[in-house]
Order: sequence, then structure tokens, then C-alpha cells
Amino acid sequence: MSRILLINGSPHSNGCTATALAEMIKVFDAEGIETQLFNIGNRNIRGCVACGNCRKAGKCIFDDAVNEAAELFRESDGLVIGSPVYYGSPNGTLLSFLDRLFYSTPFSKHFKVGAAIVSCRRGGNTASFDVLNKYFTISSMPVASSTYWNQVHGFTAEDVKKDLEGLQTMRNLAKNMAFMIKAIGEAKEKYGLPKLERGSFTSFPDGK
Ligand SMILES: Cc1cc2nc3c(=O)[nH]c(=O)nc-3n(C[C@H](O)[C@H](O)[C@H](O)COP(=O)(O)O)c2cc1C
Repeated sequence: MSRILLINGSPHSNGCTATALAEMIKVFDAEGIETQLFNIGNRNIRGCVACGNCRKAGKCIFDDAVNEAAELFRESDGLVIGSPVYYGSPNGTLLSFLDRLFYSTPFSKHFKVGAAIVSCRRGGNTASFDVLNKYFTISSMPVASSTYWNQVHGFTAEDVKKDLEGLQTMRNLAKNMAFMIKAIGEAKEKYGLPKLERGSFTSFPDGK
């Protein structure tokens, strides 16, 4: 059975972002895909200190929600990241979490399907959406899309329930994501994953 991990970056486990994620989960249930919802918004999560310890340990030196989620992410075929918009960006706790999750995990994310969703009251959704998608696109993760950018609007969960187009966007996103996960699962059996080059790591013109 395919599995999707959904991360809610908001401190409100029944708020706007949660309402949008719940709309997606209904579709995943109907598609026979297992889901796991992981709320991180109220956890005490610090940022990456670039110690490099994870290179040897295969996990983050700060043993918190990041390492818990890493195990779930490893077992998942897809990852949904949900964020409220704080000052035109994803919320800070979520960014600290994602920097450490993506940097510290040694397993391949190749062809795990990614989707970002964002919730704002008024503005900053598309800028936040762009930030979140960058975690996927540096990790060889195909990105699922929908019939609008993946956003809802509201200050409360009740507001989001009135955002009918936003909820429709979530359902369509989930349908597309479910299809991609199933299709990629079959394609992996048939063709195997593409073999990627890894040798070069250049920061300066002399390659050192
Ligand atoms: C610190 C903070 C900053 C916020 N900044 C913005 C913002 O830049 N633009 C906006 O439209 N809403 C902003 N909001 C409102 C939330 O993004 C919005 O209510 C969101 O839907 C809440 O989602 P949640 O219920 O999942 O936490 C902010 C809220 C907080 C607490």
C-alpha cells in the first residue's frame, strides 16, 4: 500500500492549514492510500547549526521531531508540506524543521512525490508556496500540482470551509498526487529509477 506523510507546520492542529490537509486526506482515503499526519507547529524545533554531524550519524544531532519524521518520510511514497503564511513566508518553525529534515536524512528521495500547500488570511501565499517547493526540486522529487496554486484563504478553519475553490484545489491536488504515486510505483517496476550522476560538487571556478 502506498503511503503519504503530511506535515502541518501550523501551531493550530485544527486551524486553516489542518482543514486544507484534511480535505486532501479524504481523497487519499478514497484512493486507498495510507496517510500519516504529523503536527510540528507546537514543537520546540531549532534551526540547523551546520555542524555536519548528520553526515556521519545519518540523523540530526538534535534528537527531536525531525528525527521522528525522518523515519516516516523514509517509508513514504509522497510528502505533503502544509504551512500557514507568516510575514509572507512559511512559518519559522516549519522552515527550521524542513532545513534539518532534508539536510540530515541520508536516504534517497528520488521519485517520492512532493506537494506544498499554504494558508494565508490575505497575502503571501504564492511566495510561501515557492519556498516550500524548493525542498522537493533539489531532491529529485516530482511535484504534484492542481487546478490553481495550492492555497486556501482564512484566519480560522471556518473561513477556509467557505473557500470553496481553495478546497477544490486541495481535492484536485490530492487526486493528481495519488495518480502520480500509483503511476510512478508501476513505472519503477517496469523501468527502474533513472541513474543519476553524483560526483561533482562545485562552488568555485576551479572546482574545489
Ligand atoms: C505571526 C503571524 C504572521 C502572519 N502573517 C501573515 C501574512 O503575512 N499574510 C497573511 O495573509 N496572513 C498572515 N497571518 C495569518 C495566517 O497566515 C492565517 O491566519 C493562516 O491561515 C493561519 O493558518 P493556521 O490556522 O493553519 O495556523 C499571520 C499570522 C501570524 C500568527
